[in-house]
Amino acid sequence: MKEMRIAIIGCGMISHRHMTVIENLNNLGYNLKVVAAAEIKKDRLEAWGKQYGLDEKDLYQDFREMLKRDDIDEVEVCVHNNLHTSVATAVMAAGFPCYSEKPMAASYADAKILYDAQKKYGQKLAIQISSIYNPQTRIAKEMIAEGKLGKVYHARSVGHRRQGRPGYDMPFFSPDFIDPKVGVHGPLFDLGIYHLAQMLYVLGMPELESVYGFQSCDYWTDPAIDKLVGRTAPVEDLGVGLARFKGGLSMDIYEDWAIHMEDIGSSFIVGSKGGLKFTDVDQTGGPMAVPAGGNIVGGGKLQLPRLTYYGVDDKARLFETQLDCAIGDITGQQELLIHPEMAIYNDNQLQWYSYLWGDLTDETRIDSPYIAMQTAFLSEGVVLSSELGRSVTADEIKAMAKSIALREQEADFGTIKYEFDDYKAD
Ligand SMILES: NC(=O)c1ccc[n+]([C@@H]2O[C@H](COP(=O)([O-])OP(=O)(O)OC[C@H]3O[C@@H](n4cnc5c(N)ncnc54)[C@H](O)[C@@H]3O)[C@@H](O)[C@H]2O)c1
Repeated sequence: MKEMRIAIIGCGMISHRHMTVIENLNNLGYNLKVVAAAEIKKDRLEAWGKQYGLDEKDLYQDFREMLKRDDIDEVEVCVHNNLHTSVATAVMAAGFPCYSEKPMAASYADAKILYDAQKKYGQKLAIQISSIYNPQTRIAKEMIAEGKLGKVYHARSVGHRRQGRPGYDMPFFSPDFIDPKVGVHGPLFDLGIYHLAQMLYVLGMPELESVYGFQSCDYWTDPAIDKLVGRTAPVEDLGVGLARFKGGLSMDIYEDWAIHMEDIGSSFIVGSKGGLKFTDVDQTGGPMAVPAGGNIVGGGKLQLPRLTYYGVDDKARLFETQLDCAIGDITGQQELLIHPEMAIYNDNQLQWYSYLWGDLTDETRIDSPYIAMQTAFLSEGVVLSSELGRSVTADEIKAMAKSIALREQEADFGTIKYEFDDYKAD
């Protein structure tokens, strides 16, 4: 069966989800071998090596040493947001294809630098965006392309948690999530990528004209928790926006990870003939990310995405149809029974490995780097508009974008210097 020799950089929480997916895929007959791992924290590295049975010689505190090996097929980058561009460009520069965690970067400029690095180094890249690898997204995209919604004019991108700031209200998550230098941004970049990217992808990547945005960090905090988690300065708790795209399309955005509210609705897309509501959008990695008999990494239930289709028939009668499109329920199973090849569109990692094996091409794979970069562009517009107190055009976002990705990182073996290109607006 198909083989892949994998290296991991960053042995924190999300790396365990990568390992779960690898184990589940191997149980289906694939031959995915994690041959090396790098983690800056020695204790964590050793514990990780023990847990997954890696020899000491295959464990590296300095990932640059690991990248000198010639027996690695691809590298999975599981460090935090503002290190994605830093580490992922180094991986590609060293000659390896790279699969990086979301968000693509902590700024649009850095997402663009990483996107351009694919061409510069002639390497393949993918970004983890689990919400776009499932039937909910696929069916919606097909329905819009078939004209079932008529002229599409508005989308809503929504995500929220009630007091669910990772690293703060959820202290078992990494404190890096709320570190202004490492995590950098709040929910708009963190969870927002799942919702915004899904909307943009389903809508066929519309071209942004302008956006008005607002961010705030005014929710409840507690000095005792601040001290406990070492919070130095706040990252945003709320990101809202109203975007306008070419061709007469608008999108409102609401992303929040600390709201005192229960149900604030779901993402939706509406057109002249119909509408689609996206319930339980996947942000947990899909069925492959569930360990046998265990919980998803980071907690929470496996999300079972659903679509509701609202419309009017040719006798002017309104209808509402529920499309159960979770993989593993009846609908998903039937599709896979008749079209087993669709499995590679139902999981981020499997799609990535399939792309490297040549089962998918640039045309047939989902172009996650482009989708993630455009998502960062829109998010950056919200940030910029919030700072300036006025709406911003797409040209202004491009012109004002600045790279903030870390170019130096302290480690107990010395300073890691990251060398990557400056941002080019083109
Ligand atoms: N935790 C989740 O549930 C989750 C879910 C989806 C995506 N993500 C994304 O995954 C990324 C990592 O999140 P996490 O929760 O695993 O954080 P984490 O802090 O638990 O893990 C990151 C690890 O990277 C290590 N690291 C930092 N710099 C390094 C370097 N130069 N070389 C090697 N290792 C280095 C850190 O020491 C840490 O162990 C984030 O970008 C996050 O948005 C996390």
